[in-house]
Amino acid sequence: MKTQCLNRIGVTGALLAAAAVGLAAPAIGAPFGSDADVSYANRLWMSLKYRHLVGKDAILSTPYKGTHPHGAILDTIDARTRVGDDVGPAIIKRNYGGPGVSKSAVANNPRKFLKSVTVMFKRPGYDPEDRDWFWVKYAPDGRVLKNPKGLFLAGRVAKGSSQGCIACHKGAPGGDMVFNHDRYAR
Ligand code: HEC
Repeated sequence: MKTQCLNRIGVTGALLAAAAVGLAAPAIGAPFGSDADVSYANRLWMSLKYRHLVGKDAILSTPYKGTHPHGAILDTIDARTRVGDDVGPAIIKRNYGGPGVSKSAVANNPRKFLKSVTVMFKRPGYDPEDRDWFWVKYAPDGRVLKNPKGLFLAGRVAKGSSQGCIACHKGAPGGDMVFNHDRYAR
């Protein structure tokens, strides 16, 4: 009986340890989602907000029909911004969805349909291999969103994986990882 109990604890303990490792492993050494990435993303949001590129006073552009995995309807604006000593272009894409979404519905009431804000910021020297982009996905209120594994979507998302911002944007024409234009291609 005693042995059985111990065994049970032993097994449970091992399972708990495995679960803990399973949860912690992706965060350790992952190329994104660290505290430093999230704190940089928060500073980037403040910078974009100051320039009226996000938040309730954000400058809007004309909504257009989106492509997967971004929203059903999108609007995208480009501007230069600064985070600390880093100065570079930022591309801000707002992703709209929900029942009744259409180009005109979004144009009339953008805040009602805004689901997320995805941003690419060219951060000098940050990731030369992938054109120095810092990637982040925010909730409409500026919180950094997590992926289904619980990792914050900020930083080099998800470098080395076959899915995620970097993997998909590598296929953008012009080699600059930007789909909509080639302004930042070398
Ligand atoms: C499966 C492919 C795919 C993934 C994954 C993806 N994107 Fe995109 N993204 C696109 C496509 C396609 C466009 C062009 C859509 C459009 O504007 O019509 C785009 C456009 C953008 C733009 C506007 C600049 C441009 O390239 O035209 C930003 C900013 C952006 N994505 C950020 C992100 C971020 C941040 C992530 C990860 C959190 C991400 N994307 C993940 C396919 C993807």
